[in-house]
Amino acid sequence: MSAPFKLDLTHRPRRLRRNATVRSLVEETILTPADFIAPLFVVDGKGAPEPISSMPGVLRYNITDLVKECRALAKLGVPAVALFPKLAVKFKDDAGSAALDADALILRTVKAVKKAVPGLVVMTDIALDPYTTHGHDGVLTADGLDVDNDATVEILVKMAVLHARAGVDFVAPSDMMDGRIGAIRRALDAAGFTQTAIMGYSAKFASAYYGPFREAVGSASAAGTHHLDKRTYQLNPANRREALAEVALDEAEGADILMVKPAGAYLDIIRDVREATRKPVAAYQVSGEYAQIHAAAKMGWLDLERTRHESLLAIKRAGADMILTYFAKEMAVVLKG
Ligand code: PBG
Repeated sequence: MSAPFKLDLTHRPRRLRRNATVRSLVEETILTPADFIAPLFVVDGKGAPEPISSMPGVLRYNITDLVKECRALAKLGVPAVALFPKLAVKFKDDAGSAALDADALILRTVKAVKKAVPGLVVMTDIALDPYTTHGHDGVLTADGLDVDNDATVEILVKMAVLHARAGVDFVAPSDMMDGRIGAIRRALDAAGFTQTAIMGYSAKFASAYYGPFREAVGSASAAGTHHLDKRTYQLNPANRREALAEVALDEAEGADILMVKPAGAYLDIIRDVREATRKPVAAYQVSGEYAQIHAAAKMGWLDLERTRHESLLAIKRAGADMILTYFAKEMAVVLKG
């Protein structure tokens, strides 16, 4: 019988993984309910919450039910919500005119939420895609082949002021037009809304992962397609330096929070942005990331709870200070214990 094999090791990293207590002591990244921003979809009317087939568990609420959901989120310690309206097709046109309607659904929603849950941070999307028949984030050029940058920014600026007047805490331009952060900042300040903050969708990629969201707000179906090509304004997924250049511009133009979107497939960009700026960094775990986890779990191929946790942990570890995620509420429930 030979002696048991023994390595003469100074370093045995497994000493720090021996049991749960030691592991918790050396844990570097911890998720809390305060990390999350819950995206919520709102529809007009008094109907029951509407399911979205590719986003199990996510519902479109009428204003009254959405306010209830906001109360529940605030109680669970989720600090913020990001609101997205879904309009009936009859309210859409090529110019996205309904975005400037003084009685727009989103404005009524913001007022109702701020009145009922004043402490909850409310963010709204600034982009034209829920309002346009073609589903693009802006108005088209005369030849109809591209989105007109400056004409779009002119509309977005007015939209941002309307949202600020309704009481929103953050406007979040998700359109990727050039110069929109600076134009919005100047317009907000000129209108007296110096305290209305801007979260820039600064590094937003032309991603296949937005598919389910387009079902949720009806931007693809209004356009009669499941695929909308936004590559003349959203970033090429191949480009890392270009993403950093976009982020630098938004920061210089006055964005208060810089966002990377999507999150899970762009962890390198989140890390790069975290190291390039001193501003808070947000990441958006988008609809397709959510759908993917649910689909695999439904097949019995992945464990939903563990995959959900790990996906969000990875985004925070990469450097995100806050995460927009459709898992916000259930994560807050789990983390609160
Ligand atoms: C559009 C917008 C999109 C999302 C948020 N705002 C989709 C798009 O650019 O077509 C995607 C969110 C998600 O997929 O969860 N302004």
